[in-house]
Amino acid sequence: MTNTYNLLLLPGDGIGPEAMQEVKKIITWLNDNSAITIETEEDFIGGSAYDAYGTPLSDHTITKAKAADAVILGAVGGPKWDGKTAYDLRPEAGLLKIRKELGLFANLRPAIVFDALVDASSLKPELVKGLDILIVRELTGGVYFGEPRGIETLPNGERKGYNTQVYTTSEIIRIGEAAFDMAKKRGSFVTSCEKANVMESGVLWREEMTKLHSEKYSDIRLEHMYADNCAMQLCRAPKQFDVIVTDNLFGDILSDEAAMLTGSLGMLPSASLGAEDESGKRHALYEPVHGSAPDIAGQNKANPLATILSFAMALRYSLNQGEIADSLENAVQDVLNNKIRTADIIEAGITPIGTSEMGDAVIKALQNRLQSEKAAE
Ligand code: IPM
Ligand code: MG
Repeated sequence: MTNTYNLLLLPGDGIGPEAMQEVKKIITWLNDNSAITIETEEDFIGGSAYDAYGTPLSDHTITKAKAADAVILGAVGGPKWDGKTAYDLRPEAGLLKIRKELGLFANLRPAIVFDALVDASSLKPELVKGLDILIVRELTGGVYFGEPRGIETLPNGERKGYNTQVYTTSEIIRIGEAAFDMAKKRGSFVTSCEKANVMESGVLWREEMTKLHSEKYSDIRLEHMYADNCAMQLCRAPKQFDVIVTDNLFGDILSDEAAMLTGSLGMLPSASLGAEDESGKRHALYEPVHGSAPDIAGQNKANPLATILSFAMALRYSLNQGEIADSLENAVQDVLNNKIRTADIIEAGITPIGTSEMGDAVIKALQNRLQSEKAAE
């Protein structure tokens, strides 16, 4: 039996397209050399969609995204569109819209330090060696989407900008469940972060997490931490954490901090998952944690590994192809161990290679793995 899957590729802006090009090469290789077949469709998102369709995410793209087994996204945004379009036509609005339309409430952002890259961190090697934490960020609620929001002119002529931080019980419970379920497969420890000392939404968050924990997950350790303290602890002693669960805005900030601990933003993938339907299927989008890096776009300098590892996460979580995901992740490790590097993760004495050479190196490592597996049979 051949397993055929359908992926929607949304390369986006900046370095997104060139990184996605390397994923496409790997898909072609897998179609020729593995038991699965991956069919792909491609469309625009962000600034490129604004240029093509006049909107950062068109309805037909949403329809395709809902029909696909998973969506792989490159990156969105760039100076070309900064301040030139209405607020809801910005490239970032396309990203927020696809998260909301697909109901992708659970954002998984691993921060892993690869042994070969331990010196790339700005923290001391002993603080980060072996680091493996997972940030579970709520992605479709909170201040990002809360109403009312806006900018108004007051009677006295002053202007007022405002947003609303809001969470309901069900929103907190479903992200809490996602975090506890992940912790079960890892270190069985969840740190829940909010600002219950100043925000009612944080008080509710803490109460609901505590209740969920005692009702369903008492075998997992739960700790509550104020988000500012978490930011501090992340750079003081990051290995104390296993899974961190937090809201949309704190998650945005803490995940950038955690990513930087690894010293290699260009290496980190992420997954955004919706709720399971009756058949066990869920909408899902996979994207690198890094942005569109417009300053190096189109120069064959970008590191495609975060996008490639995002594709590996899609293989694991959406296509149920854990073994192929393992091979791909191991191939990336092989490449790093062989001291093959793009400029962002360079070490003294190594000449950096380009985006497309990095993709080729991963394919070569996959090929070598396949050959040695065959030889072992
Ligand atoms: C992220 C990004 C986005 C966010 C931006 C681009 C809208 O920073 O995915 O972390 O704030 O969620
Ligand atoms: Mg961010």
